[in-house]
Amino acid sequence: MPSSIEIKLCVLVCIFCTLNNNNNNNGGIFVGVLGGRSGKALTTTQAGGGGGGHVSSGGGGGGAKRGTTTPPNKQGGGSTTFNAFTSAWKAACGSTVASTVYIPKGTYMVGPVKFNGPCKAATVTVQMHGFLKATTDLSRYGSSSDWFEFGWVEGLTLTGGGTFDGQGASSWPFNKCPTNANCKLLPTNVKFVSTTNTIVRSITSLNSKFFHVVLLGCKDFHGSEIRISAPGNSPNTDGIHIERSTGVTISNSVIGTGDDCVSIGQGNAQVTITGITCGPGHGISVGSLGRYENEGDVNGLVVKGCTMSGTMNGIRIKTWANSPDASTASNMTFEDIVVNNVANPIIIDQTYCPYASCSSLAPSRVKLSDIFFKNIRGTTSSPVAVTLECSKGAPCQNVNLQDVHLDPSNGGSVAKASCQNIKAKYSGTQIPPPCV
Ligand SMILES: *[C@@H]1O[C@H](CO)[C@@H](O)[C@H](O)[C@H]1NC(C)=O
Repeated sequence: MPSSIEIKLCVLVCIFCTLNNNNNNNGGIFVGVLGGRSGKALTTTQAGGGGGGHVSSGGGGGGAKRGTTTPPNKQGGGSTTFNAFTSAWKAACGSTVASTVYIPKGTYMVGPVKFNGPCKAATVTVQMHGFLKATTDLSRYGSSSDWFEFGWVEGLTLTGGGTFDGQGASSWPFNKCPTNANCKLLPTNVKFVSTTNTIVRSITSLNSKFFHVVLLGCKDFHGSEIRISAPGNSPNTDGIHIERSTGVTISNSVIGTGDDCVSIGQGNAQVTITGITCGPGHGISVGSLGRYENEGDVNGLVVKGCTMSGTMNGIRIKTWANSPDASTASNMTFEDIVVNNVANPIIIDQTYCPYASCSSLAPSRVKLSDIFFKNIRGTTSSPVAVTLECSKGAPCQNVNLQDVHLDPSNGGSVAKASCQNIKAKYSGTQIPPPCV
């Protein structure tokens, strides 16, 4: 479709854009990276650099294709990274002053990208205005299971209203994880590994091949205004998965997927989730915990002011039966949660074992304690609205339900509660009535 004239026009337009951008940046040093003949401009700018410098490297990049499904750039010796992005990142990360990577408006086809530190710059901002489409060729992701990865960076801000479109629909049939324990993981849309002081604001993730956003070993991470969307029947498209991270807040975000909207895995502490609108999907989950050896404990979780609509679960705590090691999940508060037509508004399930290969049903060794459900209200689509099925080997301790009001969504008879290996404490309204 694009004639050579259009391509030239594009580059001209982009040069114009980057110059504009440069002007907007208080005359700071400007490092421009052009994505080659058919590409659009990708730039980095450095704040406060004093002006004057102007470096522009064009020509070599390529790969930033406008619009449709042009094959990915092969330049760079079969490297799976995307040159224009990588060089922009390297310039920003290696700068001695606070730097910005600027991804302008436009649609780009992009293969797997790693934005890794440690950086010289004290802070790096990625201004993401583009609409990025992940390549659908799974062989390009190699052994890495991510599309965009941000690793070992301090003071990272990712913002700008742009979209990461994983184009997952063609990959979902290759996901065997729902039935096979030893499945190959498909790429996550955006993964943060061991980052410190991270802000993610105003970003959209669509149709990831697997999880949408993952935090692994992050410290002080603040996500807000994140939009995540995938069809309700897409496999393992969890919205935000958090693992081995400390000091995490996720707020004011809208998430609808085929799996958990937010999942809080092992080894997390001080995680606060507020203002999440969730559905479709499986709700907000702690877990699954206790599947692997040496899992960390979960401590200090607050989930507050969230609404689930049409989801499988509201709040779920899920631990594997037959866990190889003991661990704990404690000090968790779920407060001001509204559920609309949700099958399991409150569910503790310590007998999770989805695979036939789960031969032993030895009780879970994940100990749950100091758990508070406060002001959970709305409607349930199943007869059992509250399920508290704790481990026989490690019964739940100090689980509190205060002001729970769950009516059947079809106006039928009052929902029930079901309990095992637990003596919950109740106060305030209790509909359904407590387990006897
Ligand atoms: C419980 O969790 C909250 C929220 O993260 C935290 O502020 C508090 O210190 C924790 N309490 C204990 C005893 O760990």
